[in-house]
Amino acid sequence: MSSVLKPHIARMSAYVPPLEGRDPQRFTLLDFNERTVPVSEPIKRALIDFISGDRLQMYPSYSDIGQRLADYCGLAAGQVMITNGSDQGIDLIIRAAAASGDHAIIPGPSFAIYRQCAAVQDLRISEPRYSRDRGFPTAAVLAAITAQTRLIVIANPNNPSGTLVPREDILAIAAAAPQAAVLVDECYFEYSRETVADQLDGHNNLFVTRTFSKTWGLPSIRFGYVLSAAENIRALLNVRGPYDVNQLAVVAARAALDNPDYTRDYVREVMLEAKPLLERYLHDAGIEYWPSGANYLWVFPPDAAAVNERLMQRGILVRPKADADGKPGLRVTVGTVAQTEQLIDALKAAS
Ligand SMILES: Cc1ncc(COP(=O)(O)O)c(C=O)c1O
Repeated sequence: MSSVLKPHIARMSAYVPPLEGRDPQRFTLLDFNERTVPVSEPIKRALIDFISGDRLQMYPSYSDIGQRLADYCGLAAGQVMITNGSDQGIDLIIRAAAASGDHAIIPGPSFAIYRQCAAVQDLRISEPRYSRDRGFPTAAVLAAITAQTRLIVIANPNNPSGTLVPREDILAIAAAAPQAAVLVDECYFEYSRETVADQLDGHNNLFVTRTFSKTWGLPSIRFGYVLSAAENIRALLNVRGPYDVNQLAVVAARAALDNPDYTRDYVREVMLEAKPLLERYLHDAGIEYWPSGANYLWVFPPDAAAVNERLMQRGILVRPKADADGKPGLRVTVGTVAQTEQLIDALKAAS
């Protein structure tokens, strides 16, 4: 029977991350780049208070959250739009910027959602490759730009490689493609501290996406935001629904912004203590990994599948991710110092 759906949609395959069986009581979860310890008490309290206040029957209203985020980012409220996770921001930008047959440049390997959203829009995708030694493929991206290019995705830092993109390169790409939306995904901003959010004035084709899923520890609650020129945000609000972000997400995000220390302290432990510890071990053990600006390392032990299996047997989940040539690797989230010591012990036993 023929489908009533657009043929390219019916032909697609779904992005299905391996979420089943992730029991935090059984496993140390180093597989989704999440915060590896629970969020702070004030956030839980704010959610419980909201539920106890008998307001669940009302539609969400967002009040000052845009302004709060603008203050956090050093921007004007009109340059911010809240979204249902940064995945929604990515989708809205792609939907608003590009139409069927348009050209998109999405360097890879990278986060699967970019290609998923681009495929839904039926875009033609070029995929210049990241490399361990040369990093982001700036020259290849510049060379791939044509008059039909309507979207360029720059994950900074990239997932799974952790690669940071030099700010001058992002701005050079934005200048070279004024007809394209340049989507800079700063999902891991609080880890990397790298941003082009201060460059929105004068760069009308720059779109930054961010999230409360990673450092802030709230992926279950789905809260993200887009930063762009005010005229772009006004247009994107024509696409986002008025209630797409649920009220509990806004309650949690506001409480998180009121209590930034729990995030700051966690980031400090991960980036300044735990990650150097893991890097030192990998270096000394001669295990290859990619330089990373985020809370994860893309690691290539000699027999990645066997190492993954043995880590699982010792109660640690990591994420198998092959490189562009098909070489198997493991993307390993860095957690606390104690969790990293546990990981290193398990890696020693597994290698
Ligand atoms: C690079 C990148 N962007 C976006 C996301 C999605 O974040 P969110 O939970 O805000 O949708 C992820 C999640 O893993 C990611 O790695």
